[in-house]
Amino acid sequence: MGYRSIITALSASALVLAGCGGSSLGQSGGGQSGGEVKIGLLVPLSGVYAPLGEDMRNGFKLYLDQHGGKLGGRTIKLVTADEGAGPQTGVPAAQKLVTQDQAAAVVGVVNSATALGLRDFFHESKRPLLVANAGADDITGARKSDYVWRTSFANGKVGAALGPAVAEDAKGGVYLIAADYAAGREMVGGFRKTFEAAGGKVAGEKYTPFGKTQDYQPYLSAIRASGAKAVYTFYAGAEAVSFVKQYKQFGLAGETPLYGTGFLTEGGVLDAQGEAAVGVKTSLHYSTELDTPRNKEFVAAYRKAFNEPPTVYAVQAHDAAAVLDKALAKAPGAEGDALVKALGGVGPIDSPRGQWSFDADHDAQQKYYLREVRSKDGTVVNAVIRELK
Ligand code: PHB
Repeated sequence: MGYRSIITALSASALVLAGCGGSSLGQSGGGQSGGEVKIGLLVPLSGVYAPLGEDMRNGFKLYLDQHGGKLGGRTIKLVTADEGAGPQTGVPAAQKLVTQDQAAAVVGVVNSATALGLRDFFHESKRPLLVANAGADDITGARKSDYVWRTSFANGKVGAALGPAVAEDAKGGVYLIAADYAAGREMVGGFRKTFEAAGGKVAGEKYTPFGKTQDYQPYLSAIRASGAKAVYTFYAGAEAVSFVKQYKQFGLAGETPLYGTGFLTEGGVLDAQGEAAVGVKTSLHYSTELDTPRNKEFVAAYRKAFNEPPTVYAVQAHDAAAVLDKALAKAPGAEGDALVKALGGVGPIDSPRGQWSFDADHDAQQKYYLREVRSKDGTVVNAVIRELK
C-alpha cells in the first residue's frame, strides 16, 4: 500500500476510469442487457485513510483485469469518487455517483461515519451499496436495508473475536484505547463484551480525537500510570503508524503486550512501522500469510500487478467485484431491485480470505484469525497463529 504515493499510475487495461456525466444507458442505473454498466467506486483519495482507498481500488481493478473488464458478462465502466475524510465529503460524492453518473451500484466506503451517513440515501434511492470496508455495526444491524450489503466485516465482530484470547493471555488489567468515532467505539465495545465474559478486567479506557492526533505520549503516560498489563486498540492508516511507533519509542512494547484489530498492522501501515510492530497480536479475517492455494494465487497476481503485497482492503474490494460478477450474471438489466434480489442469491464467495457468504443481515459470515507480527525474510508480516472461535 502506498505510503510512498497515494495515487498509483493505473496501467492501461480494459478498465475505463471515467469522471463523466450520465450516459444514455444510465436511466435505470444499468441499461439493457449486454451493454456497458456503470459502477461507482467511492474510496478515500485524501485524508488519513487515503492509502486504504488506493488498496481497494487496486483490488477491484485486479478482479476486473482478470475478467476482461467484465462482470456478469457486462463491460464495466468504473466511475471513481473521493470519499475524503468522512461523511461531509463522502455523502455528496456518493450522491453524485448515483444521481449524476447513474451508477447501477456503488462499491467502497472506508469510514464507518460515511457508511452511516449514506444508509438512508441508498435505502431511499433503491440503488445497491456494497460496503467494502466500513464496519459500522448498525449498517447490517439496527439500520439494515435491502439495498446495503457488506463484503468486509462489522466492527464489533472483529473486536469480539479477540476478547477471549486476550482474557486468557493477559496477566492483569487491560487498557482500551481507540480513535474516537464509530469504528473505534464499536471495536472496543465488541471486544469488551467477550473479554469481560471470559473473565478479563479493564484497567482504563480512552478515545483519542480521530484524524487529529499525532502525539500519543500523553495517552501512553496514562496507560503506564494505570498499571495495565496489556493494551487493546483500534487505529488504522496513518494513526496506526504513529501509535505503534510511539508505543515502541515510549518503551511500552517490551513491558506491556499490544493487541488490536488487524487494521493496526495491515499493509503499508506495517511497512511503515517495521520492527516496531514485531510482537503485536491482532484479529482479522485476512492475512497475506494464509497458507491456501487460493490466497497464494491471489497474492502472486496482486504482487505482479502492483509490485506490493495485498491487504485486507484489497481483498474486500476484490470480493465486491466477485459478488457483482455473480449478481450481474443473474440480473443482466442491472436495475436496482433485480440486482438486489440477485445479491441475495450469490451464494458462497471463493475469496483469498477463505470461503464466506452473506448472512441474513447482508454481512460477511467468515472466519477470524489470530495474527502476530513477525520478522520474515528481511521484512515484517502478520503470521497466522490460529483461527479464533
Ligand atoms: C471504519 O471506519 O469502519 C474503519 C476504517 C478503517 C479500518 C477499519 C474500519 O481499517
